[in-house]
Amino acid sequence: MIGQNTLVFSIFATSLSALALNLPVARSPPYPYGQHITAGSDSNKCLEIPNADYANGTPVEIHDCGPASNQFWFIQPGETKVQVAGTNFCLDAGSSPQSGVGLKIWQCYDNLPAQDWYLTADNRIALTNQGQCVDLTNGNSTNGVQVQTWQCTDNNNNQVWIVQ
Ligand SMILES: *[C@@H]1O[C@H](CO)[C@@H](O)[C@H](O)[C@H]1NC(C)=O
Repeated sequence: MIGQNTLVFSIFATSLSALALNLPVARSPPYPYGQHITAGSDSNKCLEIPNADYANGTPVEIHDCGPASNQFWFIQPGETKVQVAGTNFCLDAGSSPQSGVGLKIWQCYDNLPAQDWYLTADNRIALTNQGQCVDLTNGNSTNGVQVQTWQCTDNNNNQVWIVQ
């Protein structure tokens, strides 16, 4: 019984310290509140909707990760929409995707190529069958830099995104 109490206490203490430090707490699928999408080059940097401005055309930017809902997304392995949790807005590559085009959110649509992404097993977010990947612009993770699409290339850390 002593051992059990000690275990309960240590779980309690661990939860408290995670809260106090604002660390991400491990959660289980299906992630009802969404997940962070963090940069492969810096796991403290997240994709966000600046000022939680949920409107067609709002740029998607990189920013220090935090607990606010404008950094939480619904995304699944394989073919997927990349939807801002709790909204009807989706990551959108525009009508003529190409290298260097800034990413934005737009009202979610089914069967829209600009919103038809594929989360690969090696942690890229690519437009399905279009050869364009979500890319940290110039590898610059300064808060407020808009992310873009760029031709998918191997061994490019600017195109690695960890969902967590
Ligand atoms: C990164 O982006 C910031 C904000 O746009 C800019 O001020 C800075 O010069 C950029 N850094 C590099 C190395 O391009």
